[in-house]
Amino acid sequence: MINIYGRSGTSLNGKWETIIDPFDVGIGWRAIYKDARPKGKTDFVEYSFGPANTLYVPGDFNSQLPELTYFESSVWYKKTFNCPGSKDGRFFIHFGAVNYIADVYFNGKKLGHHEGGFTPFQFEVTDLIKETGNSLIVRANSARVKNGIPGSLFDWFNYGGITRDVQLIKTRQIFVEDYKIQLDPKDNSRITGYVKLDTTLAGKLISLSIPELKVNQKLVTDEKGYAGVNLKKGLKLWTPEQPKLYDIRLNVEGDTVADRIGFRNIKVEGTKILLNGKPVFLRGVNIHEEIPQRGARAWSESDAKTLIDWAKELGCNFVRLVHYPHNEYAIKYAEEKGIMVWEEVPVYQGIDFADATVKDKAEQMLKEVIKRDRNRCNVILWSIANETSPSKERDQTLIELAKEVKMLDPGRLVTAAFNNVNRQGDKMILKDSVMKYLDVIGVNEYMGWYTDWPGEPEKMQWVSDFNKPMIISEFGGESVYGNKADTVIKASAWSEDYVANIYHNQIKMFGTIPFLQGVCPWVLADFRSPYRMQSTYQKGWNRKGLLSDQGEKKKAWYIMKAYYDGLKDGSH
Ligand code: GCU
Repeated sequence: MINIYGRSGTSLNGKWETIIDPFDVGIGWRAIYKDARPKGKTDFVEYSFGPANTLYVPGDFNSQLPELTYFESSVWYKKTFNCPGSKDGRFFIHFGAVNYIADVYFNGKKLGHHEGGFTPFQFEVTDLIKETGNSLIVRANSARVKNGIPGSLFDWFNYGGITRDVQLIKTRQIFVEDYKIQLDPKDNSRITGYVKLDTTLAGKLISLSIPELKVNQKLVTDEKGYAGVNLKKGLKLWTPEQPKLYDIRLNVEGDTVADRIGFRNIKVEGTKILLNGKPVFLRGVNIHEEIPQRGARAWSESDAKTLIDWAKELGCNFVRLVHYPHNEYAIKYAEEKGIMVWEEVPVYQGIDFADATVKDKAEQMLKEVIKRDRNRCNVILWSIANETSPSKERDQTLIELAKEVKMLDPGRLVTAAFNNVNRQGDKMILKDSVMKYLDVIGVNEYMGWYTDWPGEPEKMQWVSDFNKPMIISEFGGESVYGNKADTVIKASAWSEDYVANIYHNQIKMFGTIPFLQGVCPWVLADFRSPYRMQSTYQKGWNRKGLLSDQGEKKKAWYIMKAYYDGLKDGSH
């Protein structure tokens, strides 16, 4: 079901009892999910949950215990809870995310399995739940998987565990399972969409109310349990400057879902991106779902506030949330703050495209995140991949994923980030065959860092036959806050001055690209990455942040802010 935060639920967050299972034997012969106890005098059990070993949920397990810092295997979690009055209504256990694999057991019964560390899943427990002594057991395994999404190598910290909210959701016998209430892409004064019940009963009455628009409508379901929404209303459209949201309530036979929804239109026209019919330039920044000061996975409302407020302060109207779907708090807070969002599934660099299961997994993740955020008007772009190398299998997979996204959500734009621009002298030629299937092309280029400038930045020539908007989805370089060049400005000094030059040059180049509709510096803040091993400056951190790991502003921050302020007041 979507929008669990708009429903009645009980949080199962807090301290959970845990068992650390490095050899991952608990799912096999040890059968930890049985939570067995010794019987009789001769019996013994070589594992046990208890108050002595606990971890916080939500929260990655790596940052909670030093011995778990680089742990990538199974941790078993147990939560016991009571549920008074459990006989009226239906009950679901909802997970915001578990990285990477979750096996879930409830009152001794296996509920199911989920693969993918960044999207929600749930299980119904109506027939299993008791008034008292309910036992929920989760195996969270964060081992990297060759045919996984992401694959076995990625440039971020592999935070494992139950990383987002766990909730017990209570509904009536029938409930609103899914809905889409959005602006009609062809008519800025028409709200269209559907409401879908969890059942295929026809003739069910659903009430839709939007108090501010004086909407109190009765919708009737068809034989598939769907009811259409079609309203003609004068609307205040959502924009970054005025992020207007409307309170919405849906009710079916006493089961209520509440939401705050904005209405906007996003499309491409030639090389332009149009928001509500007007060209918009995306002033962006890349954000990893990590609070650097804590060295931990971000998960809460206040974490979302920390990251998005930084982006706002930088002058952004757009963020690229990388390289995986971030938590709902971040999306919703960005929506409240007028920040447009690029969401991405972690089809990242070395994916095993030859493995037939990979496309299905990617599709599953896309379906899960598109369903979760389909009513978030600030989400404008679905990204299906980042820096994948062309091959027959890769091209085919990405083309099919692009078509899948357009089928699942025709009202948004599909994109991907490429790092294989063809360089000929100072010509940068877009040529990847997958680009044809996208609405917007993302390009990651690190001129001045990984690659030299082939010529004067302002003389660079970007060439594209695709007649599509391009976003420079990554650029930048590494520096350590406070590292000022003494005499020679050189890369290996990890100096702020060296990176400042990169930013000045990039900005000079931006002005020369006719089809450029947005830029996104890599990256908002320094972030943890185990393969960044330069022992003086990196120490397990990617140092390309505009902010240090303590949130200190580097020189590049001020350069980017001045550039964005200039774009905002039209002086750039
Ligand atoms: C890549 C990649 C990022 C990575 C960055 C870097 O382009 O997309 O995930 O962190 O470059 O090398 O710093």
